[in-house]
Amino acid sequence: MSNEQGVKKFDPEKRKTIRFSEPALESIQKIIQRYPAGKQKSAMLPVLHIAQAESDGWLSPEVLDYVAEILGLLPVEVYEVASFYSMYNLKPVGKCVLEVCQTSSCWTRGAEDVVEYIGKKLNIKAGETTSDGMFTLKTVECLGSCGTAPMLQCGAEYHENLTEERIDNLIERYRKEDRRRNYTDLDFVNSN
Ligand code: FES
Repeated sequence: MSNEQGVKKFDPEKRKTIRFSEPALESIQKIIQRYPAGKQKSAMLPVLHIAQAESDGWLSPEVLDYVAEILGLLPVEVYEVASFYSMYNLKPVGKCVLEVCQTSSCWTRGAEDVVEYIGKKLNIKAGETTSDGMFTLKTVECLGSCGTAPMLQCGAEYHENLTEERIDNLIERYRKEDRRRNYTDLDFVNSN
């Protein structure tokens, strides 16, 4: 799950403007309260998902700094987690991030062809975003759905046993729906 996107430069002026919505801040406090006092670092992964959803699908250095402040941690503690996992984006991405698994089961069942097909269809390479800002194509390590390879994840959705027809359908549906797809949403956080 290593994340080799690099980190953008920190802008102290921009940092002053960063604040999450009240519902997001309430959800974050609910998550932090699940853990014993002083163990708020344990809340970091779900909090980063909310942060990403609040920030157009990616985590700028300023947003990471804000998360560190909320959790009472050093910024570097947040940076090292966000830069490790491929599910966190450290540069701007499209509304729909198509994360194609490249690990063994998917690879033996045609993951390379899936990446090539999507790349040709959207006219982008892995790591790139379409010019309309709708799709980003990423390759990632095993997503735990090896029995239904080849597969991809987009936000909270898994698309399994991929064929060209299924890829065509999901891209068409995403274009029609035209919305950002996040890993988590506040309704889900608040109901759990
Ligand atoms: S190898 Fe692709 S989901 Fe596990």
